[in-house]
Amino acid sequence: ATILVLHGPNLNLLGKREPTIYGSTTLDDINQTLTTLALEHGHHLQAMQSNAEYELIDRIHDAANEGIHFIIINPAAFTHTSVALRDALLGVNIPFIEIHLSNVYQREHFRHQSYFSDVAKGVICGLGAQGYELALLAAIRHIENLAL
Ligand code: DQA
Repeated sequence: ATILVLHGPNLNLLGKREPTIYGSTTLDDINQTLTTLALEHGHHLQAMQSNAEYELIDRIHDAANEGIHFIIINPAAFTHTSVALRDALLGVNIPFIEIHLSNVYQREHFRHQSYFSDVAKGVICGLGAQGYELALLAAIRHIENLAL
């Protein structure tokens, strides 16, 4: 099966961006680790980062046409703002996990609100880059249970 990982705005700066909050791992590191992990389990990974809301929305629409089985998304700041991205995920009806590197509940109040959590399969936050690996393992288990 194919799993799509979507990274929202400013995550291209990972490694340099507020390292005390987001760590020193780069986005390339994360994508490479996930690609390897997916292949080890006999699955495929696609990853995309964009700073533009419409590009993420278009990628989600395309995912439905491509038969993508599962999405792992860190909507970044769009978490707290984007009804449009929420509607895109609901519109294609592909199960997804919402993920954040930081523990958003330890941070500013405006980060406590998410447009995704109530419609996500699950939510992971505060575990840094490791959270993506845990999300991928959960996605794989979900897909394999469906296949039984
Ligand atoms: C983030 C948390 C968001 O509040 C923030 O806007 C980000 C990254 C995280 O991964 O911790 O850009 O999604």
